[in-house]
Amino acid sequence: MFDIHSHIIYHIDGGSHDLEESLELIRQDVEQGAHAIIATPHYYVQYPTDPARIRAKLATIEEANASALDVRLYAGNEVLWFDSMTERLQSGEILTLADSHYTLIEFYPEESYQTILRAIRNVRNAGYRPIIAHAERFKAIQEHGLAEVRDLGAYVQLSTEPLSHKGLSGLFDRETKFIQKALRNQEADFLGTDMHRVDRRPPVLRDAIDWIERNLDRDYADAVLQGNAEAILRDEEIY
Ligand SMILES: [Fe+2]
Repeated sequence: MFDIHSHIIYHIDGGSHDLEESLELIRQDVEQGAHAIIATPHYYVQYPTDPARIRAKLATIEEANASALDVRLYAGNEVLWFDSMTERLQSGEILTLADSHYTLIEFYPEESYQTILRAIRNVRNAGYRPIIAHAERFKAIQEHGLAEVRDLGAYVQLSTEPLSHKGLSGLFDRETKFIQKALRNQEADFLGTDMHRVDRRPPVLRDAIDWIERNLDRDYADAVLQGNAEAILRDEEIY
């Protein structure tokens, strides 16, 4: 499995505190089936991250891990959409995923549908491939579905954690149903744990892999678990 959304870079956003925690998060992810992980620290217009710092910390994590775990690590950012985002992609201030043209974007939970559509057009027009991070979370997308954003050229990342919920009520229930439906309709492209810390939002992956393998067509399961994300590394368009 290829985990394209994580906060494993220590001491940079609300994710891992220190090197030890980064290594532990990676270990837990690998134990549950991850073979490759993209580190996607939050990028906010008011609190920009420094690409050099992300790369340096990732290199330290890789060195510290050395031969311990069989996992590939890549750098990126998760960007909270803002109007001049594409300028900062072009200037290199924002990291794309694994130095490709794919960029992971999130919105405020209540962001308007019009703004989401405008963001996708904007990023596409600038020559990048937008991936909507944890698409199940946004009210406008829950209401309108995924067809239109996909038609506009957005890709869809869903969270693995809600697939471990069983017989729940409330908010997560809705997200879990959204994720299951999107996967059954083959409207999702990537998965991510969005892991933050060992004691708060650790990686929860195993149940998602099991559900996908039990419920989905084999070729699509392979694509959403691994194949599509490998296309990011080759910087190829998936569809
Ligand atoms: Fe995230």
